[in-house]
Parts: sequence; structure tokens; C-alpha cells
Amino acid sequence: MNIIITGASKGIGRAIAEQFAAAGHTLIICSRGETALYDTVAFLQTNYPQCKVKARVVDMSNKEQVKAFGVWCLGFGVPDILVNNAGQFIPGSIHNEAEGVLEQMMETNLYSAYHLTQVLLPSMIEARSGHVFNICSIASLHAYPNGGSYSISKFALLGFSKNLREEMKPHGVKVTAVCPGATLSASWDGFEIDPKRIMEAADIAKMVFAASQLSPQAVVEDMIMRPLLGDL
Ligand SMILES: NC(=O)c1ccc[n+]([C@@H]2O[C@H](COP(=O)([O-])OP(=O)(O)OC[C@H]3O[C@@H](n4cnc5c(N)ncnc54)[C@H](OP(=O)(O)O)[C@@H]3O)[C@@H](O)[C@H]2O)c1
Repeated sequence: MNIIITGASKGIGRAIAEQFAAAGHTLIICSRGETALYDTVAFLQTNYPQCKVKARVVDMSNKEQVKAFGVWCLGFGVPDILVNNAGQFIPGSIHNEAEGVLEQMMETNLYSAYHLTQVLLPSMIEARSGHVFNICSIASLHAYPNGGSYSISKFALLGFSKNLREEMKPHGVKVTAVCPGATLSASWDGFEIDPKRIMEAADIAKMVFAASQLSPQAVVEDMIMRPLLGDL
């Protein structure tokens, strides 16, 4: 199967890539940073020699690059799974965050998924198959202090996911909104975190993989995951 994962050089995206690599699939991945991306390719190919990995440096906040990435992905065949994961977390408050943060959050966390999905969907609709996972957040569901533009963009991504789910019902394409709470990754660099208080990226990856294994007539629409002790 062809599995496309955006932002797969680190964190949750890389953990999802590892799950599908272990099952021997073809992974098509991207990120902006070249070094971490090709380190991930080497890690996956060394540890899971049965998988194939295609990688491309892409800035998912740039519409033209996203569309070119989508066309490049189609060159490997009809996508079986698309994981819209690339995202950036800039904490802040609407009343005082810097000029341009809203635009940056929307471009990276919402438009990225919208434009890539638009390029890939026609082939999935024609094949009457495929599964789109949108990595939303607990910040898609509840307002919280310091949510700011990040939370706005994640509410919007959940809206995108829910609309797509309704649209794709007659086309045989599954859509799942994944809403994780605090998950240990580079997003938390600079914060003092007790590792016992936060989920592991592999926790999210295992659930995404499990949801991809259901019968063609079943779909997990929404997935909400939190640390056992609740939100941070
Ligand atoms: N960690 C959490 O607590 C948490 C909770 C809920 C939801 N999420 C969501 O989960 C997703 C993954 O987050 P994470 O915590 O795993 O973050 P992470 O460790 O910082 O990884 C983010 C990944 O996305 C890539 N990326 C970021 N901006 C990009 C861009 N403009 N174009 C292409 N790739 C880009 C990064 O690589 P480059 O920087 O090299 O581009 C990296 O591979 C995000 O959508 C995030 O909002 C995270």
C-alpha cells in the first residue's frame, strides 16, 4: 500500500511512518528540514528493510510546493492512506500574538491539508478507496489559555475533516479526525515535561494504524486521545 505522511521526519508523523514501515508498506514522506528527513529514511530502511521509502523536501505552508508534492505522490500510484500531519505549534494569545502568526498557523496547519487532499482525492474517488487521516488536536475541541491562532487553525482543520467525511461517504473514501492531547515531541522543546504525564508519539501511531485495519464498510470518524491524568 502507498502511505503518504506529511511532516514525517519527527514526532507523531515519524511514529506513524514507523508503524506502516513495520507492516512493509511504501511510505511517501516529506518535511522542510532535509537532514532529519533523510535520517528518518535511513532509520526506516535499516530497521524495516521490507518497506520502501520515498522522501521529498517540501514546505507544506507553500501552496505551490504542496501541489507539486501531490503530483509527485501520484506518480507512485493511487494513495491508499494520506496522513495530513505536518503542523506547527506556536503558543500565544489572540490579543497579543505577533502579526502574521494567524496566517502562518493557517497555512501550515490547515491549507497544507486542504491543498494536498484536493490534488490526491480525484484518484482515490475514481478507485473508490483510500483513507484520509487529519491530525487535529484536543485544541480542535476546546478553547484553552494560550491557544491563540494554533487553536483557531486546529478547530478549522477539524471542520475540514468533518466536511470531507460527509462529502466522501458516497465515494468509498474514509476520513478520520485524530485529536491527540499532549504527546511528547519536538513541539514541547523548551517546556519542562514529566514524561509520565504525556503520551508517546507511538500511542497516536498505533491508533492510526489500528483504524486503518477495519473492514471496507467501517470507519473511525473521530479519535480523541489524552494523557491518563488528563490535559496538561
Ligand atoms: N505533540 C503534541 O502534543 C500534539 C498534540 C496534538 C496535535 N499535534 C499535532 O500533531 C502533528 C505533529 O506534531 P508533532 O508534535 O509530532 O510535531 P514535531 O515533532 O515538531 O514534528 C512536526 C513535523 O512536521 C514537519 N513540519 C512542520 N512544519 C512543516 C512545513 N511547513 N512543511 C513540511 N513539514 C513541516 C516537521 O519537520 P520540519 O520542521 O523539518 O519541516 C516535522 O517532521 C501536528 O499537526 C501537531 O499540531 C501534536
